[in-house]
Amino acid sequence: MKKVLITGGNGLLGKRLRQLLESKGFFIIASGLGKDRLEEHNHSYIELDVTNKAQCLQVIQENNPDVIVNAAAMTNVDSCEIKQKECLQINTDSISNLNISKNRHFIQISTDFVFDGKNGPYLENSKPKPINYYGFSKYLAEQKIINTNWNYAIIRTCLVFGEDRDSNNIYMWVNKALKENKSLNIVDDQFRTPTYVDDLCKGVFSIIETSSSGIYNISGEKYLSIFDFVCNIARRNGFDLSLIKRSNSSKINQVALRPIKSGFLIDKAKKDLDFNPIYDFKN
Ligand SMILES: NC(=O)c1ccc[n+]([C@@H]2O[C@H](COP(=O)([O-])OP(=O)(O)OC[C@H]3O[C@@H](n4cnc5c(N)ncnc54)[C@H](OP(=O)(O)O)[C@@H]3O)[C@@H](O)[C@H]2O)c1
Repeated sequence: MKKVLITGGNGLLGKRLRQLLESKGFFIIASGLGKDRLEEHNHSYIELDVTNKAQCLQVIQENNPDVIVNAAAMTNVDSCEIKQKECLQINTDSISNLNISKNRHFIQISTDFVFDGKNGPYLENSKPKPINYYGFSKYLAEQKIINTNWNYAIIRTCLVFGEDRDSNNIYMWVNKALKENKSLNIVDDQFRTPTYVDDLCKGVFSIIETSSSGIYNISGEKYLSIFDFVCNIARRNGFDLSLIKRSNSSKINQVALRPIKSGFLIDKAKKDLDFNPIYDFKN
């Protein structure tokens, strides 16, 4: 059974992936910043800052994983815009610390924010053109990986959501705000293919199982405005939809620009990996 090192193992994706891969019988070495935040599991956890080259080298050499899934990142898009140096160190420069053997399967989690959002949903071979620093740092990371001789897969995903009490992902903050009867101003002019974290995990699992390489879009299939997605979350959890007000990109005061028409076409993953997202947006 393959030995898999997961970075960013305390994140939304990292935690669910650890659970899925453990259930599939993989030998997992989870790593993350600070103490382990996943309860009840049967694999080892190591504190690992991906910007620390010596630490990365030691962990990789000692454990010699067959696969590395890099789920560590600075993911707050506005913070990335403000703290650009830190963002670049974590999201881009750290790539050089994470592989040693070209035979190892290196799986990078990337984003739809590598695109400008002018004509999504995007295919794997669409031309990236990031419009914010987060997207730029993730695009440079992709380029770094592509320009190595590594055996790599780049998984691009979009607006990942799911239940995780440590996470402030859209599903969690919408539910929290509505539970507190707070009204929400949500953009209706930005479009995404929201991705249920368990669907993303299944995509990562398939990439590992099939030893696939190259770029793959792994996301939900439903193309939705963020407003419609938020209404969908509210409806599913029985909240009052009247608390959700329509807004648009020009009215929302955010530090970093957001792509307007983003999201993915996932035909390649469907064909090559038999990937079929199960999250039902109808409920
Ligand atoms: N969430 C989305 O909508 C989305 C969309 C497209 C792509 N992605 C990509 O998907 C991947 C997983 O993201 P996620 O949604 O799981 O986000 P997340 O919950 O923010 O997880 C990222 C994890 O990386 C950790 N991290 C930050 N700096 C680190 C460092 N120097 N060394 C080691 N770990 C570090 C964070 O630690 P702390 O928890 O301690 O801060 C966090 O646990 C990322 O590559 C992200 O760019 C996410």
